[in-house]
Amino acid sequence: MTSCQHNQSSHQTTSSADPGKSALIVEVERLRHENQALKSQLTQAQKSSAIGELVSTTTHEFNNVLMMILNYAKIGLRNRDQTARDKAFEKILSAGQRATKITNSVLGMARNRSEHFAPTNLENIVDETMVLLERELQKYRIGVEVDVDDNLPMVSAIGNQIQQVLLNLVINARQAMPDGGQLVIRLKKDVDANSVDLSVRDFGSGISQDKLRKIFEPYYTTKAGPDESGKGGTGLGLHACYNIIEAHGGKIRVESSIGKGTCFTIRIPVNRQPPVIPAACDESNAVRISATV
Ligand SMILES: Nc1ncnc2c1ncn2[C@@H]1O[C@H](COP(=O)(O)OP(=O)(O)O)[C@@H](O)[C@H]1O
Ligand SMILES: [Mg+2]
Repeated sequence: MTSCQHNQSSHQTTSSADPGKSALIVEVERLRHENQALKSQLTQAQKSSAIGELVSTTTHEFNNVLMMILNYAKIGLRNRDQTARDKAFEKILSAGQRATKITNSVLGMARNRSEHFAPTNLENIVDETMVLLERELQKYRIGVEVDVDDNLPMVSAIGNQIQQVLLNLVINARQAMPDGGQLVIRLKKDVDANSVDLSVRDFGSGISQDKLRKIFEPYYTTKAGPDESGKGGTGLGLHACYNIIEAHGGKIRVESSIGKGTCFTIRIPVNRQPPVIPAACDESNAVRISATV
């Protein structure tokens, strides 16, 4: 607020010296603000769709667990022999444990709901997100490997936004492997850069060099529309990831090889207070792209 007023008064000062130049500066400033507002609207729109996707996934998952509890309770009641009853109790117990994991993940999301930067444990975010996607990935025959460095430092982040990025990257990876495959998520610290790298690697279709240049553009998509799980197809996912990581003072990097797969890496600073207003968009700086075709 204060800096905004300060800007206005500085325009007025220039105005008396050179009205033409001042009008141009005001117009550039107006366009910059408009651009910033549109960017945040797009990120917001993608956030709503990501939350919608997550709510439907979670509800579906919870319903599966409830059905399992109900069915095995009925089996236990119908069967008098001890072995069948023990088996029913074991199934009910494991379904109950899974239900606890799901509610803990949802509670974790609620805890991360703050829109402010805070010391954030990325391993928790990965765990909570993967619990919610576990069954869906199984359904698409995707195996998951999570590899986390010891003594990972906290990063300065808005937890829910990083979860939104992770969700987008994992869903894209899953959609790039329609016949199933392996997904590898890594969390590595980079002591020299004072940052943590979160990478999501798939062994799917890969992205050609010409497409690689466009994937962060808003509305760029090669998908016909949302898939049968209601996910993707808007072309807003990676654009939102880009904006979020930029606002975190981080970097997003993609390496891809046609027919071999793709690896997205986001780099998030440790122990640093990022700027309140994101720096101006400098694509060449924030995104590094490389492809082997
Ligand atoms: N892991 C991936 N493998 C292959 N292509 C990808 C991957 N991630 C993104 N893409 C490409 O980038 C495009 C844009 O992705 P995104 O912004 O998430 O939009 P959407 O998923 O809605 O299409 C996708 O349509 C796809 O062509
Ligand atoms: Mg997507």
